[in-house]
Amino acid sequence: MAETAQPVTMDTIVSLCRRRGFVFPSSEIYGGLGSTYDYGHYGVLTKNNIRSLWFRAMVQERDDIVALDSAIILNPSVWEASGHVAGFTDPLVDCRTCKLRFRADKLEDASCGRKPSKRPGETPDCDLTEPRQFNLMFETHVGALQDESSAAYLRPETAQGIFINFKNVSQLARRKPPFGIAQVGKSFRNEITPGNFLFRVREFEQMEMEFFVPPADATTWFEYWLDQRLGWHRSLGLRDENLRVRKHDEAERSHYSTATSDIEYLYPIGWQELEGVANRGEFDLTQHTQHSGTKLEWIDPDGNRYTPHVIEPAVSIERIFVALLCDAYHEEVVGDRQRVVLRLHPQVAPVKAAILPLIPRDEGMASRARALYEELRRHHIVEHDDSGQIGRRYRRQDEIGTPWAFTVDEQTLEDETVTVRDRDSLAQERLPIGGVRGWLEDALERDWASPSSD
Ligand code: GAP
Repeated sequence: MAETAQPVTMDTIVSLCRRRGFVFPSSEIYGGLGSTYDYGHYGVLTKNNIRSLWFRAMVQERDDIVALDSAIILNPSVWEASGHVAGFTDPLVDCRTCKLRFRADKLEDASCGRKPSKRPGETPDCDLTEPRQFNLMFETHVGALQDESSAAYLRPETAQGIFINFKNVSQLARRKPPFGIAQVGKSFRNEITPGNFLFRVREFEQMEMEFFVPPADATTWFEYWLDQRLGWHRSLGLRDENLRVRKHDEAERSHYSTATSDIEYLYPIGWQELEGVANRGEFDLTQHTQHSGTKLEWIDPDGNRYTPHVIEPAVSIERIFVALLCDAYHEEVVGDRQRVVLRLHPQVAPVKAAILPLIPRDEGMASRARALYEELRRHHIVEHDDSGQIGRRYRRQDEIGTPWAFTVDEQTLEDETVTVRDRDSLAQERLPIGGVRGWLEDALERDWASPSSD
């Protein structure tokens, strides 16, 4: 097996996603809508796996974190209190010549609309306006009246839904600091310069956890969560050499943060934020206490009151999805054939196994393959494929990252065993057909590291 040493580009990933039905441009038959995407079958399955692995690590396997699912449209006062109405803005400039719009703080990374493309402002023809602040929240109206009194926002982060439920949850969940509240759900941002496929989109699914701690312990918990989250990304199989931690300096930190570090991934567009871990201090609970008049504080058994500090790991499924596909994508030559293979962690892979009758028209093979498929599909996402040559069927599965294929062949008819083929090593071994389910379940629980690691 020889790897073809082309670096993975975002275009390669976009084209694979399209070709194999992971992701489509949204509203395509109407010409699309900038940077919005729809997920096809394999995309949905992959996203479900990412979401449930996050939930397993953040809620299911912990005693100190509970779940929440708050509304997307909240009372607009929430966003006054959080600082989003006044401060969730990007500085924007327009070019009167090429009519494009740019983020004033990212001009270095932008391309002017004229040919040959230059940095905006670089040529004498560029005619940039003064920067003005542009709020990234999508505004809507609640009810039949469309005036200022009915204005509301689609949430730009899930975090605020957690803070405003602090009292409900801390009273009812029988937890005391340190404890956390985790939430997964859609967030919306009217990004000025979305792009790079799913990396920066206007509608995305955030997975956030707010961990409430005694103030004196905040720094320790911040380090703890940074470490945990980095470990989680590694456990999904992202290669070490493509992950790093970058600490924000003071100028870069959000208004609410006393410390922030990004877990960055080496995307095809360079090192970029995959997940942010922030020490939000007491900012949010204090703001909501002041604006709502409801005290969001903790009273310990001795009657001491304090406002917990908050440590927040926040990430979107989209950024993980792109990182996983970039990390997993390989083109290699096997024998005299080229194959594209997605070396996804088996727990992330959309399909866990393929069941393939070698000769589909052979009744004995067809019926055994069908019975095995019926048994496995009750427990796992598996596929039955009986169309085309076996080599082509393997390659189809390689391209969507299916870790194992069970092939029913002539020998199955003699001794009731099947071949299991490993996606990464291409090794084949034989198993009793009755033991396939147990074998698959053991294999799915095994630790996995990318065979492409340095
Ligand atoms: N509650 C804190 C918060 O929302 P953020 O750094 O703005 O912080 C957290 O966002 C995470 O959400 C990012 O690390 C990234 O994974 C994801 N994210 C933010 N904007 C995004 C966008 N436009 N498209 C995709 N993911 C995005």
